[in-house]
Amino acid sequence: MIDDIRAARDAALAEVETADSLDAVRALDARLLGKQGPLAGFKKQLGSLATVDDKKAAGQAVNEAMQAVTAALEARRAELGDAALAARVEAERLDLTEFVAPPTRGHAHLVTQAWERLEDVFIGLGFQIAEGPEVETDWHNFEALNMGEGHPARGEFDTLFLDHAAPGEEPGRTVLRTHTSPVQIRTMLEQEPPIYIVAPGRVFRRDTPDATHMPVFHQIEGLVVDRDITLADLAGTIEAFTHAFFGPGFSSRLRPSYFPFTEPSAEFDVQRPDGTWLELGGCGMVHPNVLRAGGIDPEEWSGFAFGFGIDRMAVMRHQVADLRDMYADDIRFISQF
Ligand code: PHE
Repeated sequence: MIDDIRAARDAALAEVETADSLDAVRALDARLLGKQGPLAGFKKQLGSLATVDDKKAAGQAVNEAMQAVTAALEARRAELGDAALAARVEAERLDLTEFVAPPTRGHAHLVTQAWERLEDVFIGLGFQIAEGPEVETDWHNFEALNMGEGHPARGEFDTLFLDHAAPGEEPGRTVLRTHTSPVQIRTMLEQEPPIYIVAPGRVFRRDTPDATHMPVFHQIEGLVVDRDITLADLAGTIEAFTHAFFGPGFSSRLRPSYFPFTEPSAEFDVQRPDGTWLELGGCGMVHPNVLRAGGIDPEEWSGFAFGFGIDRMAVMRHQVADLRDMYADDIRFISQF
């Protein structure tokens, strides 16, 4: 009988091996180990065996066979379960690289690009970079630049005044700087001549945004103070800058103008290779009152200054029709450059 039990066990184990799905394992489990199963049948026959020892040995063989089949079913279930899980994972797999666009490289803002190129060109011409605060005193922004209280030229700067009172000042005498020219004063007060600086920075005016104006924009200021500086040095510097920045086909001209902080004063224009002129900025010889406000003796030193808009340079270089597009941060606009 023990041989029969073992044969039944081996047959059962062989069947378990062929189960190819979890459902098949479940069906085999019920059939092989159930009351009607091949091994359960031997249990019923134990009573017919002659000796106690025979009964014991056969009973043990049946138990071992049941355990072996149980273990085999369990192992097969685990195997098929792993395979089923793996198949499901594979079927439901998401290749994220198919959905995530490859990273695109951004770039610096067009104004930042123009700003940095301007710095490079002026550094190449021997200038240093200077800085000043965006929130200024009335004195630095106007008074020291030869625009005293009530000076009519103040009206040309649509000034944003702050309620804040600077130490020793009345409230309303602190302003968002309307131009980078106050950096001239700060530099002269900090540095002994000779001075050769440019000061790029953000400036503010009470303007309604339109295609050519923004209330916040950028300028670059230039200041030279040295011995025997003349208008010819100013014109030559502007011309050298024009060639270096725009290219050899461009040239520059000065047109008489008026600024309280320069005397004489001029506007400077750049001529494009097609002959058309572009108005770029203001310039002139630093007014003696301005040198004095900066602690510099106008009998000993002279200088020139210039200032122009950086945003305009960027708009012109990239032929942007509306200045507001530069600040709308619309990706359809930005990604064109
Ligand atoms: N600050 C002047 C402006 O904003 C420009 C300028 C700078 C003119 C330096 C002359 C000298 O219009």
